[in-house]
Amino acid sequence: MTLSHDVVIVGGGGAGLRAAIAVAESDPRLSVAVVSKVYPMRSHTVSAEGGAAAAIRSDDSLDEHAHDTISGGDWLCDQAAVEAFVKEAPEELLRLEHWGCPWSREPDGRVAVRPFGGMRKMRTWFAADKTGFHLLHTLFQTSLKYERIDRYDEWYVTKLLVDDGRVCGVVAFELMSGRIEAITAKAVILCTGGCGRVFPFTTNAAIKTGDGMALAYRAGAPLKDMEFVQYHPTGLPFTGILITEAARAEGGWLINKDGYRYLQDYDLGTPSPKPVLRSMELGPRDRLSQAFVKEAEKGRTVDTPHGQVVHLDLRHLGSTVIDTKLPFVRELCLSYEHVDPVRELIPVRPVVHYMMGGVHTDIHGATPMEGLYAAGEVACVSINGANRLGSNSLPELLVFGARAGQAAAAFASTAVHGAQGGAAVRAQVEDERRRLEHDLLGRDGGKEPISAVREEMQATMEDGAGIYRSGESLARAADRLHALQERFRTARLEDHSRTFNTELVAALELSFMLDVAETIVHSALLREESRGAHQRTDFPARDDDRFLASSLIYRNADGSRQMEYPPVTITRWPPGERVYGR
Ligand code: FUM
Repeated sequence: MTLSHDVVIVGGGGAGLRAAIAVAESDPRLSVAVVSKVYPMRSHTVSAEGGAAAAIRSDDSLDEHAHDTISGGDWLCDQAAVEAFVKEAPEELLRLEHWGCPWSREPDGRVAVRPFGGMRKMRTWFAADKTGFHLLHTLFQTSLKYERIDRYDEWYVTKLLVDDGRVCGVVAFELMSGRIEAITAKAVILCTGGCGRVFPFTTNAAIKTGDGMALAYRAGAPLKDMEFVQYHPTGLPFTGILITEAARAEGGWLINKDGYRYLQDYDLGTPSPKPVLRSMELGPRDRLSQAFVKEAEKGRTVDTPHGQVVHLDLRHLGSTVIDTKLPFVRELCLSYEHVDPVRELIPVRPVVHYMMGGVHTDIHGATPMEGLYAAGEVACVSINGANRLGSNSLPELLVFGARAGQAAAAFASTAVHGAQGGAAVRAQVEDERRRLEHDLLGRDGGKEPISAVREEMQATMEDGAGIYRSGESLARAADRLHALQERFRTARLEDHSRTFNTELVAALELSFMLDVAETIVHSALLREESRGAHQRTDFPARDDDRFLASSLIYRNADGSRQMEYPPVTITRWPPGERVYGR
């Protein structure tokens, strides 16, 4: 049996659901499939905490939001994309309000906004500190209105089908039964989120394994700016659970082992001549994470069984502010660290949080491959450049989820159906079935469990491609990843059943992660400069002469890699210094 839809969306989080609604609204005749490896409300969007940025106050402007984003991104952002983003972000957040999103309000009824890192104006809308939860619920319940949106919950996409350079569907298997099917389509939109699980300490859910990035890369689409990996300065040690930047926006302090607000010793950017809202704790994430490393090198961090930490101090905020504005922070600290932030210090450390890089798209979410679109963290359009500002990603997934949905709908409305019945596509489906059933499920013996390979990959990435990298550390990581690819091919799979085979899923995820990890390391090795989140100890300065350009990495048919460096689109903001207030 072949399943068929006009548009297949891979991923049921914020970007996927927003894209599905956009397709349905653009052309109600189109049939849409949302294929997600988890039930949509378990997608990682649900865990976003602090808020969504969009200029709304009378003292703010679209240009200021654009400038903060571009400067925060160390001038690697596509400025045309940023201009579209800042204009459509308030429209999307208001639309969400009309669909039922309970934005927190001021006493006079206006939408409340809070400051956020790297933003010079208060423009971050929030729903307490559970913004992602409310946003995802709103999108999910809205998507239920559309009869032409079908959901394939707990189906895992393992391959894109390509006919003569055009993407024409996916191969997926149903987790409950192990049934493997082709789902053909005129257009496919990837909305699978990021790849934080490539690293050992991350705020990312276990499902964020770079699936969409690897699917696109294997099919021949380029990945862009993969060397830019964002560390969030305040994750809980060991679990990596996010302690939202909103805690610092509400006035929290970062202190070292001596109780000293150490950020005053670091250059977080050139001090702004104008009075600004940001305190030092609200500097950009790249600079705060780098300051932590320096502080650790000076021996001024706290040694714990789970590594070096500093402390986040919220005690002076008092229980009323914490319970009203940061209830989830208190809940997480009590549950996972057994500390009450009303009375105690919270141990925190930088943890991998977000990929600035991803599948290369234009401002409509279209990739260079006909029929393939991407939106949300899996994509790189790029509004985030070398360092994303916190609270830009929720509006990004709305703005570009909608744009990708509209573009895919326009394409699917006019396109003839893909070659779903053609011999070339049937052969790809059979090859994939053989790989899953024979090479993986049928694998006998094997040297080591896949978890051993995964743990070594994660350690390799932290060691070689962490907050600071060098040519030497990256070259070492590249060699180790190459060896891990070999080890994966002979790793052991012990579960041969078809029903909810989580070991098979873990193996497929690992194979995606290994490919994505290689693109991160390779792109980082070739970018011989320091910019935003990419800090090379052997090339400590930004080099606009050589690298005011995005990186594009392609996989050739023989498995080799190829790089291109298209120049960054500059519209109105020529490269300058990053300016921050103290
Ligand atoms: O800290 C936070 O709440 C994270 C927000 C973001 O990454 O956008």
